[in-house]
Amino acid sequence: MHELREAGAKAARIMADHLEGVGDLPVWRPVPEAELSWLTGQDLPETGRALDDLLEDARAHVLPYPMGNGHPRFFGWVNSPPNPAGVLVEPLAAALNPSCAGGDHAGPHLERTVVRWLAGLVGFPHPPGGGLLTSGASIATVICLATARQRAALADGWDAREEGLSGRAPMVMYVTEEGHSCLHKAAQLLGLGARNVRTVPVDAQFRMDVRALRAMIAEDLDAGLRPFCVAGSAGTVNSGAVDPLDDIADVARAYGLWFHVDGAYGALGILADGAGPRYAGLERADSLALDPHKWLGVPVGCGCALLRDPSAARAAFSLVPSYLTDENAGDLGWFAEYGPEQTRPFRALKTWATLSHLGRSGVKRLVDHTGGLARTLGAMVEQAPDFELLAPVATSITAFRHVPEGADPEVLNQALPVAVQARGNTFLTGTRLGGRAALRACFLHPDTTEQDLVVLLEEIRLAAKAR
Ligand SMILES: Cc1ncc(COP(=O)(O)O)c(C=O)c1O
Repeated sequence: MHELREAGAKAARIMADHLEGVGDLPVWRPVPEAELSWLTGQDLPETGRALDDLLEDARAHVLPYPMGNGHPRFFGWVNSPPNPAGVLVEPLAAALNPSCAGGDHAGPHLERTVVRWLAGLVGFPHPPGGGLLTSGASIATVICLATARQRAALADGWDAREEGLSGRAPMVMYVTEEGHSCLHKAAQLLGLGARNVRTVPVDAQFRMDVRALRAMIAEDLDAGLRPFCVAGSAGTVNSGAVDPLDDIADVARAYGLWFHVDGAYGALGILADGAGPRYAGLERADSLALDPHKWLGVPVGCGCALLRDPSAARAAFSLVPSYLTDENAGDLGWFAEYGPEQTRPFRALKTWATLSHLGRSGVKRLVDHTGGLARTLGAMVEQAPDFELLAPVATSITAFRHVPEGADPEVLNQALPVAVQARGNTFLTGTRLGGRAALRACFLHPDTTEQDLVVLLEEIRLAAKAR
């Protein structure tokens, strides 16, 4: 243990040095050839190496090549910097190394608190046992949709787990083209069939057209299909749009559909000043996916599935072999009965630490700050003749494009993300929005400033000119 004590103290210094200095490094740089061969080509050592050696290797070969999301000028995808409290307790979770499948130890008990806190933050109903932590929203979505699928089958008098889906009317799910790919992946994985995921049109603000949703459900019913779920978004990945959740909830209720909300990125946006009405109806969902590893900055990976009726998830997943029977499990049983994972890491500790460190007011401050940056960038873009705003700013994402005179905006904006990234001064990613090539900047870093927005636009211009 002496070796661990010494190396642990050194690791803490390396970690702090890294976090302190990450803003002075290029936001991102490609891994050089020599380092690549170190990273990918090593042989397994025959004899074990000293802890200090490992730290030196990590310092020399790993820490200099981050993805970039620790840097205040990283605006790509939806990847936040790690909250320091989350970083601090990660080694403690590893030192305990429990499986949080269930049982009477700190991990599962703390997970109950963290899930309750998350539901409370966004105003989602929270019955006892109403949720669990996951690796991310992709698995949270699998849990929610599998629950919806089994509930629909049981309501129709059969058991999808027992019988499988063959011979039954296809179950149909509704999602807009702005809905995240994890919704499609989950539907495919669950055997629903990609062709049974309907693409509901969006309005000019990239929000679900609820009138079209109604018409599509009616048509599918007429065709003898089984509409079972509608998935709305509380913060789409492309533009941060929030669907009209209250109206969708009305339709779901009218047709007896499961109402799922993908709030992986954007659910916390409900905390922003004045945002409440935009999110009305979120609290009416049957399930909500919300990722602590996105806006909150809990170190990856940590997602969360929140369920209005946890017994529905238990009905979809519970399978307890005799070697795992726990007479003391209590009414709620084990977390492993509510999802696909058996051995489950101690995700609650870093989430508890992050939430406790920020406090409710700190979370709100972060959401307000980053949302404010997105709006400011939106205003800057609107004022600049060589930029065009592509969507209203609803959360902390600005979707826009560069339209300098004489350039083909499609060709240019498709090429720009990589060109900007390669310059190393800022990092943004691209997408397609309304059929057009778009740039999107997602703000999640508490230390990003308005000056960084000036740099971003200038970097885009320079990258475009250098082409
Ligand atoms: C809106 C939205 N939903 C779902 C996901 C998938 O989440 P995860 O990567 O945690 O599985 C993402 C990821 O960026 C997202 O932005």
